[in-house]
Amino acid sequence: MRKAFAVCFLCLLLIASSVSSAFAAPFDDDGLLRLVNREEKITKKYEPADLVKPNVPTNKKSQQESIYMRAEAAAALEKMFQAAMDEQGYTLLAVSGYRAYGLQQVMFNNKVAAVGSKEKAWRKVAPAGASEHQLGLAQDVICDNYRYLNSGFAETAEGQWLYANCHRFGFIVRYLKEWDDITGYAAEPWHFRYLGVNHAAAVHWLNIPYETYAHQAMLLPEYILTDGNAYLLYGVMDNALNGDGCLFEEICDAACETKEQQQATIEEMTAYFLPEGITLEMALSGQVH
Ligand code: DAL
Ligand code: ZN
Repeated sequence: MRKAFAVCFLCLLLIASSVSSAFAAPFDDDGLLRLVNREEKITKKYEPADLVKPNVPTNKKSQQESIYMRAEAAAALEKMFQAAMDEQGYTLLAVSGYRAYGLQQVMFNNKVAAVGSKEKAWRKVAPAGASEHQLGLAQDVICDNYRYLNSGFAETAEGQWLYANCHRFGFIVRYLKEWDDITGYAAEPWHFRYLGVNHAAAVHWLNIPYETYAHQAMLLPEYILTDGNAYLLYGVMDNALNGDGCLFEEICDAACETKEQQQATIEEMTAYFLPEGITLEMALSGQVH
């Protein structure tokens, strides 16, 4: 009897550990919030397990093989391209999605050869292991009216629509001119990083580089990172970065061991941060209004 109980208990432990390892923590390599830059590199062997080709047009037909993304990001990209067409009649084009470590190395070396030094190349192309393209969560996007990956894309109607709307689909514009001292890169109005709608909206509304967001958000409890809605994330992060930080600390310290306690804290804090015109139900729905 006792032996049977021990075996069952062991089975439960094994099931529990396999269930928890199936879900990456948000800032782990497989997590949607993984920050990648020259200081926080990804290993040479990292390759996402769920790469798929989004069903979207490319600039050149041969680029279809270069636009793979992780499944969730690919589906969001398709929705964003469709919305650009439905809402504005814009034809967006994908250029470059997942890039393996080796490909990034080749691209960086080519850039060094073209511009003459590593320091100059660093402003434009990430060295191997330092590109979020290796996560399968980034896509370079242009449009049929402007087929160049250069700063002029920011002036196009399509580029401006993307800048104002990409967070609705879970993307942020990762490299803006005014953030180059923090990101280390010149402006890239074509480079979109997938974070999921809630975090993308919070980053967009805060109007800050992802480095700043990620370093602060890493301190939040995991249930807030995974289940927190855009209004809550914006509110607590704004309190931490621009306010007195008291509410941020309160949410970090809240004793939330059960799912019910976590849900209650999310609802209470969301109600506190609700903007005018948004009901609690709307905020909790996971949509950005
Ligand atoms: N151009 C961006 C920074 C990259 O290479 O990932
Ligand atoms: Zn890019």
